[in-house]
This record gives sequence, C-alpha cells and structure tokens, in this order.
Amino acid sequence: MEPVKVGLIGLGTVGGGTVNVLQHNAKEISRRAGRGIVISHAAARDINKPRICQTDGIKLTEDPLEVVADPDVSIIVELIGGDTLARELVLKAIANGKHVVTANKALIAKHGNEIFSAAQKQGVMVAFEAAVAGGIPIIKAIREGLAGNHIEWLAGIINGTGNFILTEMRDKQRDFDSVLAEAQRLGYAEADPTFDVEGIDAAHKLTILASIAFGVPLQFEKAYTEGISKITREDVDYASELGFTIKHLGVSRRTDKGIELRVHPTLISKRRLIANVDGVMNAVLVKGDAVGATLYYGAGAGAEPTASAVVGDIVDVVRVLTSDPENRVPHLAFQPDSLSDTPILAIDEIETAYYLRITASDQAGVLANITTILANNGISIDSMLQKEHSSEDKATIIIITHTTIEKNMNTALEKIHALDVIDGDVVRIRLEHLDAE
Ligand code: NDP
Ligand code: HSE
Repeated sequence: MEPVKVGLIGLGTVGGGTVNVLQHNAKEISRRAGRGIVISHAAARDINKPRICQTDGIKLTEDPLEVVADPDVSIIVELIGGDTLARELVLKAIANGKHVVTANKALIAKHGNEIFSAAQKQGVMVAFEAAVAGGIPIIKAIREGLAGNHIEWLAGIINGTGNFILTEMRDKQRDFDSVLAEAQRLGYAEADPTFDVEGIDAAHKLTILASIAFGVPLQFEKAYTEGISKITREDVDYASELGFTIKHLGVSRRTDKGIELRVHPTLISKRRLIANVDGVMNAVLVKGDAVGATLYYGAGAGAEPTASAVVGDIVDVVRVLTSDPENRVPHLAFQPDSLSDTPILAIDEIETAYYLRITASDQAGVLANITTILANNGISIDSMLQKEHSSEDKATIIIITHTTIEKNMNTALEKIHALDVIDGDVVRIRLEHLDAE
C-alpha cells in the first residue's frame, strides 16, 4: 500500500523532533499503523535555516498555504504555534478534507469549539495529544482509558518551563531570569515566555483537560490564571518547614455548583507523589469514581517527547483513515450533542485551603485580632507558626487554614489588611490536599 503523505507546517523544536522520530522509528511506526508514513511537504518561515532534522526528500516552502492545498497530502501537522495564522491554516486544511494533528494548546483552548464543529461537518479528525503535558498521553488516558468513570477532579503540573524554573530556583538557588533563558535555549518555552510564567499556557491546557474530563465546551476565557513570578524564596522555605512544596498547579473540580477551573501556585504536602515532580517533568492526577486516583507522569516539553505525542496522533489518524466518521472517538470525549452546560465557577466561588504570610507589629493582641477575623468569616485554622522578622518590632505569622470558600477568605483578608498593625500585603497561596478519597 502507498505510504500516507503528511504535510508539516513548522520545522522548529516540535516540527524537527517529529521529522526525527518519524525517520528513526519508521519501521516500527508502519508496523503499528499498517502503512508507511512520510512527510512529503513542509513549511517554515525560512527554509534555509539550519535544522535539528534532515529534510532531504521533503519538498520545502515558505508558504504554509501551499502545504494545506497540496492534493497529495492527507494529514496536515500544524506546529507553528499562535492562534491567528494557525487557525486559518487548520480551518483551510479541514475545508480541503484533510485530517489535522496539532500541538497548539492556545489554538485548541481558544478556537477548539469552532474547529471541532468544522471537522465534524467534514468528517475529518483533529488530534491534539501533544497540546497537553508534552509526551504524556493524557488526552487518550482521560478520553478513552477512563471513559467508564465519572471524573471528580484533576490537578496537574502542566507547564514544563514553570516547573523547571521553580525546581532550579529551589534546588540550586538560581535566579528566575537565568533559568528562564535556559528553558528558552532548550526549546521548552513558548514564543512569548510570559505564557509560561504567568500561567496562560497552563490555563490553555487545563481548559482542554476540563472539557474532556467533564464533557463541557472549551471555555478558556473563564479560567482563573495566576503565574509563578511572585513566588518568593521566603515562602518556599516557610512552606517547606511546614511540610509542603509550592508547585504551579492547574486544578479542575466538579462541584454541586459548577466546575472549578483555576491555575495558580499551590502548596502540596511533600508526601504526595506529585509534589516530587521536578524540572521539565509534568504530572496529572485524575480522580475517577470507579478507578480512584490515577497519576500520569512524563516530560512536559522538548523536541522528541512532544514529537512522541504528535507521531502517536498521526498513527491514530492513519489507523482510522478509512473508518466511518460517525464512529470515531469524539474530539472532546463526549458526543458533540451531549456536551453539558454546567457552569464554570468564578474564582471567588471555589473551595480550597490557604497558606497566609502576615507581617505585623510584634505586640499583644495582634494574633488574637487576626484569628478573630478569620473565625468571624467561618475560616478555621489548621496550623500556625510565628517567626522572627528582620525588624525587632515586627513578627512574621504563617497560618495554614482548613478549606473554605474563596470569597470568605477575600473578606477576611480585606479586614486583616485594614488593621493598623499589619505591615504590607498579606501573602496568600492556595493549598490543595489532593485526597484520593
Ligand atoms: P518553534 O518556534 O521552535 O517552531 C515554530 C516553527 O514554525 C518554526 O519552524 C518556524 O519557522 C515556523 N513558522 C512560524 N511562523 C511561520 C509562518 N508564518 N510560516 C511558516 N512557518 C512558520 O516552536 P515549537 O516547535 O516550540 O512549538 C510549536 C507548537 O508546539 C506551539 O504551538 C507550541 O505551543 C507547541 N508545543 C511546544 C512544545 C515544546 O516543548 N516546544 C511542547 C508542546 C507543544 P522558522 O524555523 O523558519 O522560524
Ligand atoms: N512551553 C510549554 C511548557 C511547552 O513549558 O510546558 C509544552 O507545552
């Protein structure tokens, strides 16, 4: 049988890795797919640039529309990033009757509903395993492996760059900017690295995970997003003293009121496996009612780990090229006419525990005032630590609370800030227990 011809748009970190994996593992891949797979046509901005891959035998162009229009190509692999040109190219590819594979989480999180609907009408597949958690097959695991479960919650370290920065800062006392520069050199970071450090990339990925876990349309605009740029060494050390690690976590939980969808720095007990996921590695915990808690771990970024997911998708598409479009695995795990309108909750409606760091005058009654405000807002204290402050007349108070509603914490913090014995802002970091029960 003739090999399947693939058009590749983007020959950078992931595109180059994809060419390499398809070439190195060609025999095994064709034994799995039932047919050979070749990249016949590829586009990049500058086709004369040195590449991490061999491009001999591939027709090269600087016009990606040429690839999308190539009648010999049946699968388009979009690896340029961004959501403007990428959206146009993917919609054109679908209109031309081509299947699409992409690693582009921004594209799927923001335009996935439109793209899947167009693909559904054309009877083509859009596969996006590499869009979440690099090489970990988490989309497949939730969409297919856990299809028998009512998913209750999921939580993940889903940005490799952010986790790499936090780990290097903690373990090697390196500064933020130099670690970020290294992540960029290694090809982990997004074209705009603020997407990594401000949590936007993780929010794109969490939006996708929540949709396939809970069967709701993609709603990136409703995700709460907080990055890692304000985490201080002081808080990392105090958290550690109390038995916690600070990780940048995406959390999505189904509650009676709606679905929580939030990305923020989070204290996690050091005893949890996920607290020990370091460097560029990612991990996603998924709690299903039948299976219990499951954990998926692997490289979250980088050329070949991500290419592993891209090539897995290409093989999937090749396997079902001739199958009935009505009987394929639905893009968002649930049949398109069975998506639910369960609301995404605003951040002040979510429930979580908190770490608070308060700097206050070291005088009688201050602690009592603070704890009274917390109690009056229904917030119960789990543990507390008082530390010396560099100024003799001040004290640092660390409080870990039990779980409460965020709006109660907001009210309490407003009142604590208003006390004239409080110095500067109260630091508040959310804390998750991630209990399997
Ligand atoms: P790179 O910047 O390394 O590569 C982008 C590629 O797209 C380059 O080859 C570039 O050409 C090409 N390109 C950009 N604009 C155009 C254009 N207008 N016309 C033709 N070609 C164009 O990005 P990555 O490989 O890192 O990322 C690609 C996608 O994969 C993104 O969506 C990213 O979010 C996602 N992703 C990345 C991961 C990673 O670890 N890097 C992991 C998971 C997902 P040229 O080389 O000539 O400049
Ligand atoms: N910039 C992303 C990260 C790439 O660091 O996780 C993988 O999606």
